[in-house]
Amino acid sequence: AAPPCTLVIFGAAGDLTKRLLMPALYNLSGAGLLAEGFRILGVDHNDNTDEGLRADLTQTMESFTKDKTSEFHADRIDPAAWGFVRERIHFLKGDFEDPASYAALKDRIGGSVVFYLAVAARFFGSIVEQLGQAGLLAQSEGAFRRVVIEKPFGSDLASAQALNARILRQADESQFFRIDHFLGKETVQSLMALRFANGMLEPVWRREYVDHVQITAAETIGVEERGAFYEPTGALRDMVPNHLFQLLCMVAMEPPNSFEAEAVRTEKAKLAEAVRPIEPGDAVRGQYTAGTEGGQAVVGYRDEPHVAADSRTETYVALKLQIENWRWAGVPFYLRTGKRMTDRLTEIAIHFKPPPFRLFRETGVTELAPNVMRLTIDPEQGSSTVLNVKRPGPKMALGSVATRFRYADFFPEKPNVGYETLLYDCMVGDATLFQRADNIEAGWAAVDPLLKAWKGADVAFYAAGTDGPTEADDLLARDGRRWLPLG
Ligand code: BG6
Repeated sequence: AAPPCTLVIFGAAGDLTKRLLMPALYNLSGAGLLAEGFRILGVDHNDNTDEGLRADLTQTMESFTKDKTSEFHADRIDPAAWGFVRERIHFLKGDFEDPASYAALKDRIGGSVVFYLAVAARFFGSIVEQLGQAGLLAQSEGAFRRVVIEKPFGSDLASAQALNARILRQADESQFFRIDHFLGKETVQSLMALRFANGMLEPVWRREYVDHVQITAAETIGVEERGAFYEPTGALRDMVPNHLFQLLCMVAMEPPNSFEAEAVRTEKAKLAEAVRPIEPGDAVRGQYTAGTEGGQAVVGYRDEPHVAADSRTETYVALKLQIENWRWAGVPFYLRTGKRMTDRLTEIAIHFKPPPFRLFRETGVTELAPNVMRLTIDPEQGSSTVLNVKRPGPKMALGSVATRFRYADFFPEKPNVGYETLLYDCMVGDATLFQRADNIEAGWAAVDPLLKAWKGADVAFYAAGTDGPTEADDLLARDGRRWLPLG
């Protein structure tokens, strides 16, 4: 089990606490990974009591067993596992910006503490400052003080740098755990094993053999109720320097010397820093218009709640990246992400260079399908590789086949909402799956030219339920390439 500590959750009444933190703690409890001395102190500005918060959270946990759309896929709540969490929940009413709240907090905690900032990004800096000024971040022998910060961490390079500088005045870098929930996904973590535990992959994982790489995070959902957040944010900020860069780093970084946090994070920072700042001409922004999703008519982005009728916020981005290092120079990485697309698909596809063709020309074959290795993260975790084989028969004719595996066929699925490892790692002090200040800043630095160029710029349109604007196809077509279909 993790060492005993108090988890102080700022934003205890919020959505993240209900949807992800509580189910994750419940799963950790079921797996016996929480210490007897574990405690939760929820802080929020509403009126509540220990018993009240316990009842609220019990009710939402129970509602998830009926609600098939939540990340928590369980048919029933195990009373022992939930009871362990439930009886450890406490409540403190407090305004995040009022020093009195921190004085009250000081009276309620001692020993090791994880402060979880499950709040809107505008509070990150001031909460850390108040914690620091109240002396709550000072660590002593055997008692750690750590702060978990959600995304978005900054809204461009300058604001991310300013936020890093502000929080690092209050505590040491090793005390900050900046979350990127893509790193909580098993398959993303597994990319390191796949690459470095298999001697056959690493030799071809380089510019001599790889033609290009496609990284996709396509969603079918629209902006939902999050228009107020999404309007000033857009798909680029929401997904690219953070989530897509995690995938990029995992697939393209150099082998670290060990799985020790600093070793891995240093390789990731090196990779992100080698990304050439993206030229506006190498990127496309799109916005969905009305269309159909899963057979249902859906409205366009501009008609979503809390969205301006003439909004130019992008709900789709496609771009081409160049990595200026010895392994990848000249190999384009194409990234795309969007809402309201044809299908849900998060994957990395490595397209290998073709073999010499002469051998086949004489047999009447006109084209060789490229070898493509797809590493799929969502909705199904697995991998497939396209190979060319001979079609049975007297002539030399080729057919392409795919070898596939699904993680679920080999490993029983454990209950997981994606925050279990992240919470556990934070309690044991393993920062491998968290973003260091330089990782965050390198991501923003790469997209900064786009953020500047896109201020007030036009968007291309695509109908909901399609694969994105045609301009995104042109981005690849001009290099003689094509996006993989989503389905
Ligand atoms: C979040 C974004 O960080 O990631 C959302 O704010 C997005 O807009 C989500 O939908 C995607 O995550 P996942 O795990 O569903 O692929």
